[in-house]
Amino acid sequence: MEYRLVVPCLLGLEGPIAAEARKLGFADAAAENGRVRFSGGAGAVARANIGLRMGERVLIEMGAFDAESFDALFEGARVLPWEALLPKNAAFPVTGHCLNSKLMSVPDCQRILKKAVAERMKSAFRQEWCPEDGPLYRIRFQLMKDRASLCVDTSGEPLYKRGYRRRRTAAPLRETLAAGLVNIAGYRGRGDFCDPFCGSGTIAIEAALAAMNRAPGLDREFAAMRWPGFDRKLWEEARAEAREREFHGDYRIFASDIDPEAVEIARENARRAGVGELVRFSVADAAGFRMGTERGTIVTNPPYGERLNDRKAAEGIYKAFGQAWRGLENWKLYLLSGHTEFERCFGAPADKKRKLYNGMLKCDLFMYL
Ligand SMILES: C[S@@+](CC[C@H](N)C(=O)[O-])C[C@H]1O[C@@H](n2cnc3c(N)ncnc32)[C@H](O)[C@@H]1O
Repeated sequence: MEYRLVVPCLLGLEGPIAAEARKLGFADAAAENGRVRFSGGAGAVARANIGLRMGERVLIEMGAFDAESFDALFEGARVLPWEALLPKNAAFPVTGHCLNSKLMSVPDCQRILKKAVAERMKSAFRQEWCPEDGPLYRIRFQLMKDRASLCVDTSGEPLYKRGYRRRRTAAPLRETLAAGLVNIAGYRGRGDFCDPFCGSGTIAIEAALAAMNRAPGLDREFAAMRWPGFDRKLWEEARAEAREREFHGDYRIFASDIDPEAVEIARENARRAGVGELVRFSVADAAGFRMGTERGTIVTNPPYGERLNDRKAAEGIYKAFGQAWRGLENWKLYLLSGHTEFERCFGAPADKKRKLYNGMLKCDLFMYL
């Protein structure tokens, strides 16, 4: 069976994810606002979940239709062939969100959709009620500008939960965003790589995983693993294929932070991610950064300071790091900050900028090339 697959993502990462999906063999991958689409069967679901570095989840889209009223929402959901994917004992909680639509009450939409799917399942399986004591098929809806899109979540835990980050420092980046920054910076294992504000180590760990071409989902479970028709063999094949694509090289990946506890946590996370040997951690003040290189990439996310006092401190850090940066040669810098005055404090306008969202926080990736 061929499915329409949808990968929701952080705004700004659609292009890189579509390119990554095409590399994984999904030739029809296309970027949309906040999501990437492609098509494939159960094997594709396994490969996408295991292999995609930057997407948030892999969803199967059951249908999309206009829904300006609860009746239209109910009818649109009821006519979809849920029984083709869900077994009769499927558990199917409904979650989602509404944006710029006539129907803006999420709890009401959830209730209506739940009722519509239950009705369809009851009549398709000729049963009086839905026991919902089987595998989990979480239904995710999006209602945007009066258009409903109804999907079933194949991932379960979101894809950024790789499983390696049990301890975290303040303001860690999502693993998917860290992977996105590494991808945009074009780092694939050549030359030196450094994150001098490494916190819990996410960027350096994602750089190491990307350098080795190690699939991020090799060691975790996904919701669809328990679905009939998505048997273990498919996942094992997808894992074996991913392992065959791994490289084993000599990489020069460095990460440091001024806080010794952060460095300790980052080391532990890297070990858990299986890249403990690849990333060289140290305690250091980024203001004193002066490592020589012939070809280097810095990808980093210094503090931006949400509160006023922290903002002042962040500005001082940008200034000091800007001075250090001007003494460097052969490094390219990709720095993520949500601070609107970053360039002024850093002391130089960026060569390029790119808007990205760190969760709800609008940021810029400042590029000095
Ligand atoms: C926003 S956090 C980085 C989070 C990281 N990207 C992660 O995913 O966990 C900023 C980090 O910069 C560190 N820091 C602050 N001032 C610094 C300095 N002068 N030199 C190096 N690190 C510094 C903080 O200790 C903090 O861990």
